[in-house]
Amino acid sequence: MCELADRSSPRGITQSCEDPEPYFEDLMRVYARAYAGLEQYAYEDPEELRAYLAWLKYHGQGKIIIVRADGRIIGFAAVECRRHFARKGTVGEIHEIVVDPRYQQHGIGRQLFAQACRMLEQKGCDKLKLLVGATNERARGFYTRQGFRETGRLGKWIRMERVAPRSVPRPQLAAASGATARGGAYPGSVRVAR
Ligand SMILES: CC(C)(COP(=O)(O)OP(=O)(O)OC[C@H]1O[C@@H](n2cnc3c(N)ncnc32)[C@H](O)[C@@H]1OP(=O)(O)O)[C@@H](O)C(=O)NCCC(=O)NCCS
Repeated sequence: MCELADRSSPRGITQSCEDPEPYFEDLMRVYARAYAGLEQYAYEDPEELRAYLAWLKYHGQGKIIIVRADGRIIGFAAVECRRHFARKGTVGEIHEIVVDPRYQQHGIGRQLFAQACRMLEQKGCDKLKLLVGATNERARGFYTRQGFRETGRLGKWIRMERVAPRSVPRPQLAAASGATARGGAYPGSVRVAR
């Protein structure tokens, strides 16, 4: 396990990059709560969900980012860095970002996203990609504000893409993502109601 230092994290909130397997049951509970009302985009069968988490682990080279509040799991993100031979580049896929609804709207999703970006950036990714449910307005808005643009559709999924942060000077990225003084592509301090 590696603790991910983020001085802007609110008190009691920690992020770490670790093997998710010992925590599958907790992760499944958080996932089910976060996807309530969005079941068409979620794995509802526990065995399928467990297999999905194993898939996320595999594609993240054995690790995912886990967020805890006072030691309890409240969110996670799973990413993958893939070599794109045809394009001669390295693409970062954001497979999943989930925050427990009780902790949403406090900037934790943005912090998770920023951490995921840092990891992909360190691995040399020059482009970020993801799929989001077409009617998942909250997540689509969230990603749009992180600078993603829609580039296609795959059935019920929308493909969104963005250049990786290091390829773009920060002021330009902030303008592209419509970021406000409250926070740009990389989040500043966040407050969680306790
Ligand atoms: C998408 C998701 C991860 C976002 O997580 P989150 O923790 O709510 O995200 P944030 O709090 O960082 O941002 C959400 C809102 O809170 C606001 N916010 C950020 N910091 C804040 C703070 N300190 N105080 C109050 N609000 C804040 C943000 O401005 C944002 O508002 P906006 O939507 O009007 O722009 C979460 O909604 C989720 O888990 N959804 C279900 C699963 C899902 O759809 N995942 C995506 C799969 S592709």
